[in-house]
Amino acid sequence: MAERQIRIYGDPVLREAVGPLHDIDGDVVRLVDDMIETMKAAPGVGLAATQIGVRKRVFVYDVGDGPQAILNATLSGARGEWTYEEGCLSIPGFSWPIVRPKEVELSGVDLDGSELRIEADEFLARVFQHEVDHLDGVLLIERLDADQKREALRTLRQRLGPAGGSLARSGTAGSPSQEGAPGGLGG
Ligand code: NI
Repeated sequence: MAERQIRIYGDPVLREAVGPLHDIDGDVVRLVDDMIETMKAAPGVGLAATQIGVRKRVFVYDVGDGPQAILNATLSGARGEWTYEEGCLSIPGFSWPIVRPKEVELSGVDLDGSELRIEADEFLARVFQHEVDHLDGVLLIERLDADQKREALRTLRQRLGPAGGSLARSGTAGSPSQEGAPGGLGG
């Protein structure tokens, strides 16, 4: 297992949507091992393959019951509405209250190729939506309302600087309200 570098906001791979995997080979098994190690080290509750620059439809998560890997995930059955403070390992130091469906149904396969169907609500549903968004090339910024998004983009531009620097994974200055621990979810 090896920890991989997490790609940070501004990296174009984070805007790429990835299609389904067709073979679960040794590369995928090693990828999942590395993703779990990277997620634990961050630490985060979820990590999508594109966040380490790998264009495969794979994500891992751990909501306290041990790490799990989901391949070829899709979501359906979105119901309700739930607001939750959400952060992202690819946008370190920031979190925003984001409204998303409260319940979703995830379909996918596990590492053994067995089909999975998981009905999730609240926190787990939030993790699934965040990670599937990553695999569709969508960052949580896109889930903000118009005012939040304008403010977030302004802050991110300031942080990135006119020279187009990048967000450091550590030592980011942070605005006072966003300093310290990110929200309850970093994935
Ligand atoms: Ni994320």
